[in-house]
Amino acid sequence: MRKEVILITGANGEMGHGLISQLGQNADAQIIAIDVQPLDNDIAKYCTRSIQGDILDSLLLGRLIAEFEIRTIFHLASILSTKAEYNPETAHKVNVEGTLNLLRLAVEQSQWQGKSVKFIYPSSIAAYGLPDLVTKEQAGKVREDEWLQPITMYGINKLYCEHLGRYYQKHYRQLAVDKASHTIDFRSIRFPGLISAVTVPTGGTSDYAPEMIHSAAQNLPYTCFVRPDTRLPFMVMPDAIKALLMLESAPKNNLSRQVYNVTSFSPTADEIYKIVKSAFPEAQIECCSHSNRQAIVDSWPAQVDDTAACRDWGWMPDYNQDQAFNDYLIPTIRQRYIQHS
Ligand code: SER
Repeated sequence: MRKEVILITGANGEMGHGLISQLGQNADAQIIAIDVQPLDNDIAKYCTRSIQGDILDSLLLGRLIAEFEIRTIFHLASILSTKAEYNPETAHKVNVEGTLNLLRLAVEQSQWQGKSVKFIYPSSIAAYGLPDLVTKEQAGKVREDEWLQPITMYGINKLYCEHLGRYYQKHYRQLAVDKASHTIDFRSIRFPGLISAVTVPTGGTSDYAPEMIHSAAQNLPYTCFVRPDTRLPFMVMPDAIKALLMLESAPKNNLSRQVYNVTSFSPTADEIYKIVKSAFPEAQIECCSHSNRQAIVDSWPAQVDDTAACRDWGWMPDYNQDQAFNDYLIPTIRQRYIQHS
């Protein structure tokens, strides 16, 4: 008998840390983790197997099919928006070809098992692209089907992979005589900028928020790369993990779409600055807008409409802006750097 497992790619990233720590609380969870980096010890202890490897390695993925019965895939591996602009073709390879490999693996597993493997895919506000600041302001809360003209390689990759997920679920090899009887159950969330108290992101464009607070807590000077009036939706990591797990466990009949917005609060960079400054009065933060990264953030919505997620699977964040900073971020980050000092 092959073991029934949950497969997590990009396991050593920010979201992987949050998800594995949460799933690991459940002693029955059998987690297979893949990352190009070795898995940190604090999460490796929760995994049945941690594999250092590349999602572009189809031999590696083939071996997984042979060995495990995969119930759910959380495909978290990705090159984020800023990093992707330094090498767009490599980003495309990892973000799109990597996803394609996992989708193929999921379809194959679904056929073997005679039931749909769940494929949980974090997408992003980067899938949106608003043409200018006036439009951004007037657009208000953007719904899932609006303003889908992303300007970054990462955003384009995310939007395209959402479509690939729909294709693999509903139309895969639609003309084949032996058309698959069981395909995948693809579910995706467009996340806002994420802020974790225990890890820092690498290579994103919403990183100014987590960078500002983590630098302040360590008493390191920080130059914020966006204008003070820049507004984006954000969410703390515990809520992002909660959203992934809620969507994963939602009854299929309740889902009216495959891709959902979620959100919790939408501060300006200046509002974040003021909160951070009052918690860490010594913080040395200045704003010096980097024109190209600013343009990326300006193309992302200031707010998104998550009505569909609230209605279909009961989405509701645990942390509003005050709770996010006062109950989670500031105390946990403060503690973290005291312990590390
Ligand atoms: N946080 C991501 C980035 O900045 C957006 O999803 O690239």
